[in-house]
Order: sequence, then structure tokens, then C-alpha cells
Amino acid sequence: MATPSFATAVVRWQAQHGRNSLPWQNTQDPYRVWLSEIMLQQTQVATVIGYFDRFLARCPTVAELAAASSDEVMGLWSGLGYYSRARNLHRCAQLVMELHGGAFPRDAATLVTLPGIGRSTAAAIASLCFDERVAIMDANVKRVLTRVLGFDADLASTKNERALWDQATALLPSAAEVATEGPRVMPRYTQGMMDLGASLCSPKRPSCLLCPVNSQCAAAKAGDAERYPVRTRK
Ligand code: ADE
Repeated sequence: MATPSFATAVVRWQAQHGRNSLPWQNTQDPYRVWLSEIMLQQTQVATVIGYFDRFLARCPTVAELAAASSDEVMGLWSGLGYYSRARNLHRCAQLVMELHGGAFPRDAATLVTLPGIGRSTAAAIASLCFDERVAIMDANVKRVLTRVLGFDADLASTKNERALWDQATALLPSAAEVATEGPRVMPRYTQGMMDLGASLCSPKRPSCLLCPVNSQCAAAKAGDAERYPVRTRK
């Protein structure tokens, strides 16, 4: 059998070994996925779970969040830290109501115009909820990508960072793979990249022998995964 493509290997691994029962999974509700992605930007999964459930119990829809008082939103966020996230969250909910009739935009290019939603978060929401073929690139995924590609240009440079985004896009499942691997390939790929970065592809002592893409990984071949990602201080 031919070696599956990089994306197909990630998708198949995610189905078998990835995380598939977190409270914000098994839904395509962009409100839930957005809320979880904002919380997960700077906070660990184990901590987010309790906050996410409490937040949803009080504000089950974007309309209810938009109508809540600032004090209430800050109270629900209290303890998570990085409080600009909560202010942007509230403002974003109000803009979804005012500008988008209460429905989250369905594409990353529009999502990224909203407060608190950067390029990677926009792509996470659009791929997880709406199957858009767009690449995410949070810190964990950057580590996976730089190792696979042997990408050792300094990520402190905007030009190099842009080049890595382009390469991330080139590795996405192709339209043909989306057709042959079945529906929901993009959500699985996005989640698989996050899951690889959070598990096997750790900063120190990565588990390359267990990795589904080790035969396609430049760093695994060279045995120098811990070098990546390369970033000098600005
Ligand atoms: N970190 C950021 N997004 C995540 C997700 N959807 N699942 C687990 N960890 C994450």
C-alpha cells in the first residue's frame, strides 16, 4: 500500500488516538467552538473544562452573552487570566448580533475581522464548524510543522512566519482527499494537528517512534526534533 499523504496520516491517527470527547467537540455550533478556542488560547484544557461548562450554563447562546453585563462576563472569566480575552469576547458577541444577525460568519476571512479572533483562531472555527480548507498555526502546531518540514528559518521574522503559513496551507488535505476520506476531514485534520502537538510532538523528548508522520518528518529522520521551532528573541 502506498504511504498515505501527510494529511491523511494525521486524519486517520486523530480518529484512533486523538481527543474526541472534550465538551466543545462533537458539535458544529460555532458559539461553543469559538468560546472554547478563546479560552484555550492561553489556558490548559484541564482548567478550561470547568470554566467552559459554567460559562455555557449562564450564557448558552451568543445572544445571551451579548446581553449580559460586563460585570457578569468578567465574573464568569475570573480566574482564567488574560482579561482582555473576556472584554473582546463580550464585544465580539455584541458585534455578531449587530453586524451578522446573531449568526457567526462561516469563513475564516470574515471571522478574523472580529475582536479577539486572530488568524489561527479564525481558521480553527471555520475548519472545525464549517469544513473550510484553512490552516491553523498555534504554538503546538508550529512545533509539529517546523519539525516535519525541517523549517529552521527564524520565526521572529515576519517573512519567515508568512512562509511557514504558506507551507501549512500546502499540507492541508486536498479536495480529492476530502472526497475519499469522507466528510468531516477538515475538523479531524485541525484537531489532529493540535492533538499531535499536545501529545507525541512534545517540546522535549518527543515520541517520534509512535508518530503517524515520522516517515515524512525531516526532524525525525535527522534525529534533531528538539531544535525546533527556531526563534530568536526580537
Ligand atoms: N487548544 C486549542 N484548541 C484546542 C482544541 N480544539 N482542543 C484541544 N486543545 C486545544
